[in-house]
Amino acid sequence: MNILVLNGPNLNLLGTREPAIYGHTTLADIEADCIAHGKTLGLAVTCAQSNHEGALIDHLHAARGTMAGVVLNAGAYTHTSVALRDAITASELPVVELHLSNTHARESFRHVSLIAPVCIGVIQGFGARGYRLALQALCGHLQQGSE
Ligand code: DQA
Repeated sequence: MNILVLNGPNLNLLGTREPAIYGHTTLADIEADCIAHGKTLGLAVTCAQSNHEGALIDHLHAARGTMAGVVLNAGAYTHTSVALRDAITASELPVVELHLSNTHARESFRHVSLIAPVCIGVIQGFGARGYRLALQALCGHLQQGSE
């Protein structure tokens, strides 16, 4: 099964960006781990990152019909983007929302996710390890459904 791991704005700076919040692991490390861990789950993982809302939407459109599911860290667009939410719905794919930090323990503007209602679930607060958890959750969903 083909899976897209899609990261949004500022996540290219992981490792050096606010490490007290986001940790020291780089995006390259996370992506390599997603590909390796995906293999152990029988998933062929493709990774992409963009700082641009429209490019993220284009990735979701391209995933439609070619991918079985998506792990999405939409960064700050999580809290603002109706267009991204609509693209998730249009993709007709199971999407797991992911955040490294626990957004509910942070500023109030991060407590609202516009995309959560159209995702199958949310993993957050576990740092870089969350990507493995999200892949496992997506794999279970694809194999067994929501139960
Ligand atoms: C984030 C949380 C968002 O609120 C923030 O804008 C990010 C990263 C996270 O992974 O914790 O850019 O998505």
